[in-house]
Amino acid sequence: MITLNQVRKAYGNDVEIGPVDVEIPAGGVTALVGPNGAGKSTLLTMIGRLLGIDDGAIEVAGYDVSSTKSKDLAKIVSILRQENHFITRLTIRQLVGFGRFPYSKGRLTTADEEIISQAIDFLELAELEDRFIDELSGGQRQRAYVAMVLAQDTDYVLLDEPLNNLDMKHSVQMMAHLRRAATEMGRTIVIVLHDINFAGHYADHICAVKTGSVVEFGTPAEIMTAEVLSRVFDTPVEVIDGPRGRLAVYY
Ligand SMILES: Nc1ncnc2c1ncn2[C@@H]1O[C@H](COP(=O)(O)OP(=O)(O)O)[C@@H](O)[C@H]1O
Ligand SMILES: [Mg+2]
Repeated sequence: MITLNQVRKAYGNDVEIGPVDVEIPAGGVTALVGPNGAGKSTLLTMIGRLLGIDDGAIEVAGYDVSSTKSKDLAKIVSILRQENHFITRLTIRQLVGFGRFPYSKGRLTTADEEIISQAIDFLELAELEDRFIDELSGGQRQRAYVAMVLAQDTDYVLLDEPLNNLDMKHSVQMMAHLRRAATEMGRTIVIVLHDINFAGHYADHICAVKTGSVVEFGTPAEIMTAEVLSRVFDTPVEVIDGPRGRLAVYY
């Protein structure tokens, strides 16, 4: 479980995130949704300890994020940020190998190599593993980053808009991979999603963020209503019954 208790973060005098109180259950996929600038990335990077909190407390699996040593936390929670300033002269395999750093400190064992291979296979990148990152399409590169995060082998995986720049097919494939990581590998996945219909279809829980606060937390059935979505996104949204669940419609 991830627990945020009265968490606050201020950027200068103008922007205040929180106070946020929320419990994200262990297991499954939780989608963070909400308008641009709502505070989704801020919350995710604070949970992943890449950004300090001003007040309150965050726990991941019972570990206090502010006081647990980085090297211990790196075995519990991994994060893929929204922007990746990657070094391009790395192969996929080398990049994914970075995910093992908390364990190997740069000296990869046979067991590390096995986990790297599994992550690469899981994201269907085996044929490309010796390609350089700058020789990949946006979708392939995004999958390589997700493979790196999965190779870190943490129970909690935080992903900030991993569908950015992916077309329909690759978005669907990525969500299917992540759904399998939750269901088959028992990972707890917290993912910032732009597309509310992906959240409705693939997530177990949806956490809606607006102007620095968590305004809704529930199942897709609870969140996928015209009233809730119109209020959260501040624009008229209709919800229709589709062939495989509810769909938000907006023009
Ligand atoms: N480093 C920063 N310095 C100042 N303001 C920031 C910084 N990062 C984010 N913000 C502001 O905080 C608010 C929340 O941003 P963010 O968490 O990135 O939202 P989201 O991911 O939901 O789009 C926005 O108003 C944004 O402009
Ligand atoms: Mg963001």
